[in-house]
Amino acid sequence: MTRVPFLDLAGINGRFEREFIAAQSHVMRSGWFLHGDETRAFEDEFATWNGVRHCVGVANGYDALRLTLRAWMSLGRLESGDEVVVPANSFIASALAVTDAGLGVRFADVEPRTHNVSVASMAAAITPRTRVVMPVHLYGQLADIEHIRRLCLEQHLLLLEDAAQAHGARLGSAAAGSFGDAGVFSFYPAKNLGALGDAGCVVTGDRGLAERVRMLGNYGSAEKYEHAYRGVNSRIDELQAAFLRIKLKRLDRDNSRRREIALRYCAELAHPLVGTPVPPSEPSAHVWHLFVITTPHRDRLVRHLESSGIGTMIHYPRAIHRQTAYADVATQAGSLPVVERMQDEVLSLPISPILSDDDVGRVVAAVNRWPRSM
Ligand SMILES: Cc1ncc(COP(=O)(O)O)c(C=O)c1O
Repeated sequence: MTRVPFLDLAGINGRFEREFIAAQSHVMRSGWFLHGDETRAFEDEFATWNGVRHCVGVANGYDALRLTLRAWMSLGRLESGDEVVVPANSFIASALAVTDAGLGVRFADVEPRTHNVSVASMAAAITPRTRVVMPVHLYGQLADIEHIRRLCLEQHLLLLEDAAQAHGARLGSAAAGSFGDAGVFSFYPAKNLGALGDAGCVVTGDRGLAERVRMLGNYGSAEKYEHAYRGVNSRIDELQAAFLRIKLKRLDRDNSRRREIALRYCAELAHPLVGTPVPPSEPSAHVWHLFVITTPHRDRLVRHLESSGIGTMIHYPRAIHRQTAYADVATQAGSLPVVERMQDEVLSLPISPILSDDDVGRVVAAVNRWPRSM
């Protein structure tokens, strides 16, 4: 029995092998490995593709988040102890970036239908110290960005989009990362646009913010050996930029294939104990980084799928406010009821641009024939 792995990164990248080898030789022969032509070209191409003025490459998505927050502090728009509202249902990097910058984190609950942040819960989490809201476009689907934008305008808050999972999710011609004051992407290998290692970027229409992020990621320096700020070392390297340029050309097509697979799953998965996601009315608003189902009997379904040769993962088994790392942040048990219920029920099925129709059929058949009782 051939397995359907949760994610076949060798296969995904294997499609580009010849171009990667050529790019690698080109970079090696150039003798220039950081802050070079490939990085500049990738930043320009990604900014254009994303419909934003500025893109600054950094070492990973987490750095992109924390450097944006630090840049706002350095520009006098935030100060230590100010607060950022973050959904409790995300990868922990979203919250770690906030607390790393010396800011306070306020957790918000999510919508049961999309698992994306609830605007009402975000609004309820705002206090007089809140200065930023950080929606996460979870699983590749745009959060309710129009309402979040309105909330930010009304309450004079900065809007930082964590678009680490949503490269290319669009409302009309506007893409994830371009709705707020700044947007952040991760190019972690498993992402829709993934490097062969770590990389990330910040996008923004604000030239001053882009320049400050760039300086902070370069030891606080714009000129060699002149350090205006206490920065860090966070850069994308030339090899990763070159690989990402190659994969960016294919990304729209890859996202379309993900959409096709997701719609087929939604149409064909039919089991009374399995809940499937509801595709957004505007299909482009979701790039299906993950396909997440729910079931109250998750362990049993995982075992059944494993024995049928289907790989699965859980995003995320423990909400951020329930992590030991955030035990000191006051959130009463039961105060974020949706995420607390969901964390025990969510299960991610295989989805990727190289999944064949046959593979999709095997996943569907395996879920649908899951025995209803033990
Ligand atoms: C929502 C979210 N935010 C931030 C990150 C951090 O990105 P990275 O792993 O590139 O640091 C990730 C992914 O890993 C993520 O999924």
